[in-house]
Formats: sequence, structure tokens, C-alpha cells
Amino acid sequence: MSDAPQLPAPTWFVGCGNMGGAIVQGWRSAGIDLSQTIVIRPSGTPVEGVRTVQRFAEAGSPPKLVVLGFKPQKLGEVAPELRKLLTAKTVIVSILAGVEAATLRQRFPGVSAIVRAMPNLPVLIRRGVVALYSEEADDALRQQIAEIFAPLGFAPWMPDEAKFAAVGSVAGAGPAYVARFIAALTKAGVERGLSREIASTIALETTLGTAWMAASTGETMDEVARRVASPKGTTQAGLAVLDHDRVLDQLISVAIRAAAERGAEMAEEAKAPSLAEAARLP
Ligand SMILES: NC(=O)c1ccc[n+]([C@@H]2O[C@H](COP(=O)([O-])OP(=O)(O)OC[C@H]3O[C@@H](n4cnc5c(N)ncnc54)[C@H](OP(=O)(O)O)[C@@H]3O)[C@@H](O)[C@H]2O)c1
Repeated sequence: MSDAPQLPAPTWFVGCGNMGGAIVQGWRSAGIDLSQTIVIRPSGTPVEGVRTVQRFAEAGSPPKLVVLGFKPQKLGEVAPELRKLLTAKTVIVSILAGVEAATLRQRFPGVSAIVRAMPNLPVLIRRGVVALYSEEADDALRQQIAEIFAPLGFAPWMPDEAKFAAVGSVAGAGPAYVARFIAALTKAGVERGLSREIASTIALETTLGTAWMAASTGETMDEVARRVASPKGTTQAGLAVLDHDRVLDQLISVAIRAAAERGAEMAEEAKAPSLAEAARLP
């Protein structure tokens, strides 16, 4: 018998694009049974290993667990129809960036519990980060949700929604920033005369090797940098540029602040009823 955790049956994915698909793939490669999981997405584009339908009407019996995997802007459109299909036993896991637990509770008043999860794309290869937060999950549910997400990587419960958002700012978006850094290293290699192919392989392997080495030795990033840079040497000259006026730290901090501000805007937008809903209001 497999040691893999069991998903509640049935589990629905409402929307399963980039991120939903990455979670499904991570779970599949962890040996999690997806035979009672259903994806509902308008295009009906098949998701490997999971029954995929286009409409709620085709999904079958009410879900025990629902993963909200659509874009936050779609909440106003999806919630009115979805909420009619949920029961007092349904647990919602929302991966919607920026949409707060209180807003989700308003949108889905009758469900058993609402959990926010903020994954990042490497869940695909089970080396992701998944921040977890809930205002109402009891210990048993916390344990169950932690067990479900642990096979995808590091999945910590956060004590409050601000810290949950902070993990999202760094880890959720992080792969995009790391991708830009690797691309910049690649471009620098090309500028120094390497072919794009060699430069991109070297940039990728250097990033991977550095992260892997630090993860296995437990060294801090300062220690790693110190071990590479001998006093008055070549690396030291390069670090002096990055460290001048904390230019790199400042740049990353400003980028993450911009993303956090956008998150706050999205949280506000999700609180407002959609145009369709507003049209139905008296
Ligand atoms: N991408 C990331 O790295 C990342 C990280 C953390 C959190 N997130 C969150 O993950 C969520 C999805 O992002 P994504 O990047 O995966 O977007 P995506 O690739 O565009 O996927 C969106 C999914 O939503 C579906 N959808 C659209 N309208 C729908 C409707 N009315 N009912 C049900 N499903 C609907 C789409 O279905 P069709 O394909 O059939 O149109 C698609 O499967 C977002 O809320 C985002 O904040 C993403």
C-alpha cells in the first residue's frame, strides 16, 4: 500500500492552468491517487491523469475539497455558481493571490473551512514552497492539509495573513525573479563571447549548484560569497558593484514592494462585487 497521503474524495480543481497543473503534476509524481479528483475548466483542456470537465453540472457529487485555481479577477464570476454546489463539509483551498480569507468567507459562507495556500511553480518537481493560512481550520484539518501539501515541498502554516502574504511575495513570485537573474547571468556570458547555449547552461547550473550546495551544507549566503571571493580578487571586484549602496538588495526590495502593492489592490478588487453581481443587486 502507498504511503502517499489521500486527497478527500471527491476533490475538485476549479481552474487548472499553470499553477493548478503544477500542483496536479507534483501530486501525481508523489504517487497521490487522483482517481477521485475532477478538474473543471471552461476550455476542457485535458489535465493528465485527472478527469476534466467544462461545467460544474458534469462534475458529479459535491466536493469534500475544492482547490480554487482560477485568476483572482474571476472570483466574482465563479463564486455565485460554485457556492450553490458546496456543502457544510466542503473545505476550500484557495491559491488566489491577494484574495483575503475574510473575502473568501463572504463569497462561500456555508463551507466547513477556508484555507489559503500560496504555492510556487517548483511544486511541479516537488521542490516548491506552499505557504498555508487559515482563520478557522482545527488541528485535525491543519494536519490533513499539511500532509497533502508536504509532498510538494516546504509547506509551513503561517500564524497570520500578513506573514502569509510575505511568503507569497518572496516565494510565490520568486521563481520569476530568479529566472530574470539567471537570464541576466546568461546575457553577461554572451557579452563575454560565449554561445547562448553554453551561457544559459552555465548560468542555470551555477544557480542550481549554489542553491543546492547551500541547502546541503547549511551555509549562509554571506559564507558562500566569502568562500568564492578572495580578498582583492576578481569576484570581490564584482561583489563591490552589487554591494555598492546595497544596490541589489534595494532593487529586489523595491520589486517585491511593487508586487505586494499590486496584491493589496487585488485584495480590494476581490472585495467589490463583480459587474455581473452588481447588476443583480436591488
Ligand atoms: N502562476 C504562478 O506562479 C502562481 C503562484 C501562486 C499563485 N498563483 C495563483 O494561481 C491562480 C491561477 O494562476 P495561473 O498562473 O495558473 O493562471 P492560468 O494558467 O491562466 O490558469 C487559470 C485557470 O483558470 C481557469 N478558468 C478561467 N475562467 C474560469 C471559470 N470561469 N471557471 C473555472 N475556471 C476558470 C482556466 O481554464 P481554461 O484554461 O480552461 O481557460 C485555467 O485553467 C491565480 O489565482 C494565481 O494568483 C499563481
